[in-house]
Amino acid sequence: MSNLPKVSPFGLAVLLLVGCRQDMHDQPRFKPLAKNDFYTDLRSARPLIEGTVARGQLHEETYFYTGTIGNSSTPGDYMPFPVTKEVLDRGRLRFNIYCAPCHSRLGDGNGIVPAHGFPRKPSSYHIDRLRKAPLGYFYGVITHGFGIMPDYSAQVSPKDRWAIVAYIRALQLSQNASADNTPPGQQMPSLMPRFRGVPGSGATLPEILRQSAGTADQESK
Ligand code: HEC
Repeated sequence: MSNLPKVSPFGLAVLLLVGCRQDMHDQPRFKPLAKNDFYTDLRSARPLIEGTVARGQLHEETYFYTGTIGNSSTPGDYMPFPVTKEVLDRGRLRFNIYCAPCHSRLGDGNGIVPAHGFPRKPSSYHIDRLRKAPLGYFYGVITHGFGIMPDYSAQVSPKDRWAIVAYIRALQLSQNASADNTPPGQQMPSLMPRFRGVPGSGATLPEILRQSAGTADQESK
């Protein structure tokens, strides 16, 4: 008996009394998503007031989030951050996941989805109009969609959208390069192949046109 800790009657009384207080525990509250007759929609959780913006989430006026200049709807033609090899690598990964199924890895619009019944085939990125389109335009198409193409704002973060935009521009350059684009003193490692008609969809092989070095150079100018 003498080994047991000694507890004074006063200490015991304090412990018991404190242990009996349940106020915080029993305060009126609703369990998450519980039904509540007080509101006409019967939801105890109240929806956010329309237009509520979480702190630090008001992105309206920044080029990084809109791709347009100032408050206008004019797309800008510059990247909001420098394009490094990492950015392009990331852009290629995201492009091949989210865009290539319809636009193809080349961006020529011959993706697998339009080949199997998607109502419209996207136009190639290598047409003149889209080669001249400003970078912010592509950012806008990913953010808001275009025609029957859905938007990808939920799937692709703003940073990744810009990475995709940079990669699309690289794709466009890759399909329209000429000897003039090589740095001085260097030669193109190989000539761009030219195809008869539309290049293959991946399921069919493209038919490559035979050409001499001279004619390929003239064609691209
Ligand atoms: C489900 C198929 C599909 C996917 C996936 C898709 N697109 Fe599209 N895209 C289309 C179609 C179809 C059009 C043409 C829409 C129309 O004319 O109504 C189009 C049009 C475009 C255009 C051309 C707009 C113009 O002015 O002609 C761009 C740029 C574009 N898409 C970029 C992208 C990017 C970037 C991605 C990936 C984030 C993507 N698309 C993913 C189907 C798709």
